Amino acid sequence: MASEATHPVALSVRGVSHVFRTKGRRVLALQATDLEVREREFLTIVGPSGCGKSTLMNLIVGLFAPSSGQILLRGAPINGITRSIGYVTQADNLYPWRTLRQNVEFPLEVRGMPARERRARADALIERVGLSGFGDSWPYELSGGMRQRANIIRTLAYDPDVILMDEPFGPLDAQTRLILQNQLLDLWQSERKTVIFITHDLGEAVALADRVVVMSARPGRIKTVAEVPIPRPRDLFEIHADERFRDTYKLLWASLEEEVRKGSDS
Ligand SMILES: Nc1ncnc2c1ncn2[C@@H]1O[C@H](COP(=O)(O)OP(=O)(O)O)[C@@H](O)[C@H]1O
Ligand SMILES: [Mg+2]
Repeated sequence: MASEATHPVALSVRGVSHVFRTKGRRVLALQATDLEVREREFLTIVGPSGCGKSTLMNLIVGLFAPSSGQILLRGAPINGITRSIGYVTQADNLYPWRTLRQNVEFPLEVRGMPARERRARADALIERVGLSGFGDSWPYELSGGMRQRANIIRTLAYDPDVILMDEPFGPLDAQTRLILQNQLLDLWQSERKTVIFITHDLGEAVALADRVVVMSARPGRIKTVAEVPIPRPRDLFEIHADERFRDTYKLLWASLEEEVRKGSDS
């Protein structure tokens, strides 16, 4: 946290491109991409399927190195997986042989946190997302929405500064998504993390974000970036009626629609 004042930029993506080579084929997944994410910003990214969104996340989290360019966390290059960056994916990846609480405690266990402290931290998070009473349940006993909440707090448990979320609410129904979106904004506001959130749902992107990034069809590049001029805290149950929501949505849809249509031609 000490470096925050000197680095108002949490994450810098500089001239990053990525080529996959498989079976003699070269796929340019990401074109030279520049992006700066501010400390404690909620940034969302939308783009047509296959445009390189997950590739960008995998590069940021350090799963593999970019073909060119550089990614910096508070000014320092990222070398491999770091605990400062948490990753929440669409599949919840909960361990089926562990209860909800044991799943949330897992990253703390790995870190060697004493059992009592671990349990207190896990229980506090479990309560925050309305899962009190389910701590001893097994993943198979939980609904999809509950599992995804558990997945998110498991990542929050080890307190990363930056959290990447790759379509975390994708498979959930509309009402469950709304509830989880609201909870996520509450968590974000109290935990003060930097969040990069990928979604294919432009409404979700606008409702959650400080800034929305639209990516072009493959090979992906950043096409449009827009600020969302809606104050916080936001009530996501009502936000669709807000004129600022509709104006921002319209502006971004014009940009995104063109990219989505490219995909439907091929
Ligand atoms: N591990 C990989 N090996 C080869 N090609 C890949 C790999 N991962 C992704 N790709 C290709 O890179 C492009 C971008 O993929 P991805 O980042 O998953 O897109 P998105 O998340 O936007 O849907 C796609 O054409 C995809 O087929
Ligand atoms: Mg993806």
